[in-house]
Amino acid sequence: MALFQSSSTSLFLLIHIALLSTLSLAADPTVSFDFKLSYITVSPLGVPQKVIAVNGQFPGPLVNATTNNNVVINVRNDLDENLLMTWPGIQMRRNSWQDGVLGTNCPIPPNWDWTYSFQLKDQIGSFFYYPSLNLQRASGGFGPFVINNRAIIQIPFAQPDGDFVLLIGDWYTRNHSALRADLDSGKDLGMPDGVLINGKGPYRYNTTLVPDGLPYETIKVDPGKTYRFRVHNVGTSTSLNFRIQGHNLLLVETEGHYTVQQNFSSFDIHVGQSCSFLVTMDQNATSDYYIVASARFVNESLWQKVTGVGILQYSNSKGSATGPLPEAPSDIYNQWSAMNQPKAIRQNTTASGARPNPQGSFHYGSINVTDTYILRSLPPSTIDGKLRATLNGISFVNPDTPIRLADLNQVKGSYKLDFPSEPLNRPLRRDTSVINATYKGFIEVILQNNDTKMQSFHMNGYSFFVVGMDWGIWSENSRGSYNKWDSISRSTIEVYPGGWTAVLASLDNVGIWNLRVENLDRWYLGQETYMKITNPEENGETEMAPPDNVLFCGALASKQQDRSHKDSAGSILQGNPNLFFTVLMAVCAAVLVFS
Ligand SMILES: *[C@@H]1O[C@H](CO)[C@@H](O)[C@H](O)[C@H]1NC(C)=O
Ligand SMILES: *[C@@H]1O[C@H](CO)[C@@H](O)[C@H](O)[C@H]1NC(C)=O
Ligand SMILES: *[C@@H]1O[C@H](CO)[C@@H](O)[C@H](O)[C@H]1NC(C)=O
Ligand SMILES: *[C@@H]1O[C@H](CO)[C@@H](O)[C@H](O)[C@H]1NC(C)=O
Ligand SMILES: *[C@@H]1O[C@H](CO)[C@@H](O)[C@H](O)[C@H]1NC(C)=O
Ligand SMILES: *[C@@H]1O[C@H](CO)[C@@H](O)[C@H](O)[C@H]1NC(C)=O
Ligand SMILES: *[C@@H]1O[C@H](CO)[C@@H](O)[C@H](O)[C@H]1NC(C)=O
Ligand SMILES: *[C@@H]1O[C@H](CO)[C@@H](O)[C@H](O)[C@H]1NC(C)=O
Ligand SMILES: *[C@@H]1O[C@H](CO)[C@@H](O)[C@H](O)[C@H]1NC(C)=O
Ligand SMILES: *[C@@H]1O[C@H](CO)[C@@H](O)[C@H](O)[C@H]1NC(C)=O
Repeated sequence: MALFQSSSTSLFLLIHIALLSTLSLAADPTVSFDFKLSYITVSPLGVPQKVIAVNGQFPGPLVNATTNNNVVINVRNDLDENLLMTWPGIQMRRNSWQDGVLGTNCPIPPNWDWTYSFQLKDQIGSFFYYPSLNLQRASGGFGPFVINNRAIIQIPFAQPDGDFVLLIGDWYTRNHSALRADLDSGKDLGMPDGVLINGKGPYRYNTTLVPDGLPYETIKVDPGKTYRFRVHNVGTSTSLNFRIQGHNLLLVETEGHYTVQQNFSSFDIHVGQSCSFLVTMDQNATSDYYIVASARFVNESLWQKVTGVGILQYSNSKGSATGPLPEAPSDIYNQWSAMNQPKAIRQNTTASGARPNPQGSFHYGSINVTDTYILRSLPPSTIDGKLRATLNGISFVNPDTPIRLADLNQVKGSYKLDFPSEPLNRPLRRDTSVINATYKGFIEVILQNNDTKMQSFHMNGYSFFVVGMDWGIWSENSRGSYNKWDSISRSTIEVYPGGWTAVLASLDNVGIWNLRVENLDRWYLGQETYMKITNPEENGETEMAPPDNVLFCGALASKQQDRSHKDSAGSILQGNPNLFFTVLMAVCAAVLVFS
């Protein structure tokens, strides 16, 4: 810190920041990936359709990394549209340059490469990546991202006998551009055509409902063993209920934090959420078992086809799964009792997280809140002749020039720092309005869902403590019901229609951080904003400098050189990040010697 105060020129600072990050890059292992995003044709629901694949795979490959690893992912855009990859839940420390959303990054045009490079700091758990623009996730491009504990850190359960990832999500046979056209013309997306499990359609559990010949997912297990299932809702907008016939789901993790371990016979996973369950193969293998992900809080007789079905197969199985699916929770029209499940998720305060100290040592309940934001979502309505979704009456318009890039290059007027801290009594509007958040503040965010559908909200760059959730309108008295001791910390939380969820976050990570609804339709229609968090004493300089390969667009478009992969000079460095870091290290070492 003394370094920053004593230094006078920003060049000196930049070099030292580069040096510091390079030293940590040198000390911690680097894992590298090449991601090529392109269309492939598959027929998960029997209808051939172009989906977004990563390296020809749908869903995309696993990013398997360990805490403190440096991750380098070279993304090549072989789609016909702009692209940004985002890594929700992964906390880029001081580094919103790698976050992959339009408020912080210029999009990667078709035929271009761009290399993401970030360090996994003090995090463990189950996450997934996806393309963040233009509803692309509705056509695929997603894949799992696991951060493992370092070997010296104990996990709060016996080492599982195996690890499975299940990416579950609603699915349309229309592609993302067709879905976009629906929203643009003021329509609702309507009922999805099905639910996919790992990119595959339902097992034919009912010959009337499921056509013959669909590919389906099979998970092969041995009797008596215990496996970790990492389950992610990668879908467009449907909350799903997950269950495995005849088996308990022992919840152990939500988005990077260990929970108090509890058994559930079925578990609700909302759009954008990730959970780990331990499942013991304690049944008698008379037959295979159904794995089910069905639409939640809908009229099931109408939504029957919106059900994903896979197969759990013991190695000594005596036959296929037959008969009806395990029953869905019976409280569809009694959401009051359904809310008990998320309220029961608590943090295991004695389990270690990424570091050896207990997670519970951070006594969030005794820290004074510095700012409160009440963010209310309304049902979509028409603004300037178009259907829009709003938060506090504002439908967000992405800046032409990303926010921090605009700041650093003296581009004025690309955004406003005036996002209201509560709903205002004024007409709905479209605006690039951002939250002026207080660095090192401890904020309380009340998500008030006045829309008619379940929503889930995600905050980039942070996890937050989920301290309260209830029906009706939040008021100051609601604070009396907060859990101030063992709330779970996570990064994506559901907000029931007609209800509210309260979260607390410690704003220690400088940058520009997206706060958005994960339901793709509402997000596309503008239900998001950003928090700008800068350290006023240091003029924002604790934030990492823009990466060497930063893209320019909007008011700065003229600074951008062509980087399509025909441009060989660009792609040598792009394609060989290790070479790039070696060069950078050599430069920094030279600077150190001469300074
Ligand atoms: C998406 O669907 C639209 C409308 O059906 C079609 O025109 C377009 O070519 C499709 N795009 C891709 C990439 O398949
Ligand atoms: C992921 O990495 C961990 C730790 O290095 C390793 O134990 C595990 O086998 C890897 N998993 C896969 C699927 O590669
Ligand atoms: C909490 O974590 C500790 C330490 O790893 C573990 O021994 C214990 O079983 C966990 N408790 C519950 C209820 O999950
Ligand atoms: C299959 O589903 C249809 C429609 O819901 C239902 O009428 C029928 O009883 C089911 N068949 C079996 C064998 O469960
Ligand atoms: C969860 O259920 C399994 C059986 O499937 C049982 O062995 C285990 O003790 C239960 N754990 C808890 C914490 O209830
Ligand atoms: C196996 O489990 C099924 C379902 O729980 C039960 O109906 C059956 O009797 C069991 N068979 C044996 C041999 O235990
Ligand atoms: C569910 O939909 C069916 C078919 O339209 C309808 O008959 C039934 O009344 C609905 N159930 C409820 C509880 O709304
Ligand atoms: C929190 O605020 C109360 C009342 O203003 C004050 O007495 C207390 O010292 C504060 N606690 C901390 C930890 O700052
Ligand atoms: C943002 O907040 C800081 C600290 O509260 C304040 O000094 C600054 O004037 C605010 N900026 C705007 C544009 O409101
Ligand atoms: C939305 O707010 C209005 C006015 O406060 C209220 O009448 C209505 O019930 C609310 N709807 C939901 C779904 O919260």
